[in-house]
Amino acid sequence: MVLPGDGIGPEIMKEAVRVLDKVSEKFKLAIAYEIESIGGSSIDKTGMPVTDDVLKKCKSAKAVMLGAVGGPKWESTSPDSLRPEDALLKLRKELGLFANLRPVKVYDKLLSASALKEEIIKGVDILFLRELTGDVYFGKKERLIENGSVTAYDTMIYRDYEIERIARLAFEMAKTRRGKVTSVEKANVVESSRLWREVVTEVHEDYKDVELSHMYVDNAAMQLVRNPRQFDVLVTSNMFGDILSDEAAMISGSIGLMPSASLRQDSLGMYEPIHGSAPDIAGRGVANPLAAILSLAMMFKYSFKNITAALAIEDAVNLFLEKGYRTMDIYNDKEADSKLVGTIQAGDIIINTLDQF
Ligand code: IPM
Ligand code: MN
Repeated sequence: MVLPGDGIGPEIMKEAVRVLDKVSEKFKLAIAYEIESIGGSSIDKTGMPVTDDVLKKCKSAKAVMLGAVGGPKWESTSPDSLRPEDALLKLRKELGLFANLRPVKVYDKLLSASALKEEIIKGVDILFLRELTGDVYFGKKERLIENGSVTAYDTMIYRDYEIERIARLAFEMAKTRRGKVTSVEKANVVESSRLWREVVTEVHEDYKDVELSHMYVDNAAMQLVRNPRQFDVLVTSNMFGDILSDEAAMISGSIGLMPSASLRQDSLGMYEPIHGSAPDIAGRGVANPLAAILSLAMMFKYSFKNITAALAIEDAVNLFLEKGYRTMDIYNDKEADSKLVGTIQAGDIIINTLDQF
């Protein structure tokens, strides 16, 4: 299923789908897809952020590729208004996609694109593992009048089994990497964080060969910009992971480079760039399609178990950057030989590169 969504979603997904077609042709794969609306564009068309029909199609698909949802047109603070974001949350919950992988890598060629100093970020390779179906995102919400004041409640909730399964995945993934897990919470204040720390410590008993450390989220926010190389796998709750992964994106230079995979126990996954709908640049043909294209590579890896195709896409992206092609978000006029390109041109270059391998 392909769900382009809102803002720059349709522009970048068009390129990702062209790359998908190219990869299918190159490796002689029979990949069929359908394109459907989601988010604000679905509200406009059907009155719902996601229809039951689209949800059903996603459930029976092998993988879902999503662009982005949301925009000023649908923003409202009223408690009972329909929000494009609800579509995303519903998909994650109903598909049971509890594990959100957000890898943060630094491309040597882009060291100067980061707001951080080169010596701090060189060689960073972090796997962010964000829990995706619990927390304040799905806890009970309420708005009422209490003692004459308008009062709003959100519930930060975690169940032991939700923590256990994400912790287990964190340790499993660490085993294939540098063998280090940092679990991030706020156990000095928050009760669900205390349970988080307890369960993670228990699960660690089964993974004694992996090094585990616990870190408070405020400290983690600082450590990420102070010394990001200390992290290998960073596992955290839904809300903390949302915030920290945007921060971590700036290590790699641009959020326009950050792919993600949302997974569950079997191979069904949803793949989306983490940058969102970027309404300020939508429709101008300048958005960076690389995060969407790299999400496609994650789809080949995790849902289709086709490492060859995944690597081919990643290699094409590397070559693109090495040759100096830059979309607006990563363009630096002081960099010698860098060439500013638009969204479609970037797609063309990736496709041509895939042809040459
Ligand atoms: C993300 C986004 C979403 C989230 C929004 C759009 C609901 O920020 O995927 O990181 O908060 O999870
Ligand atoms: Mn976010």
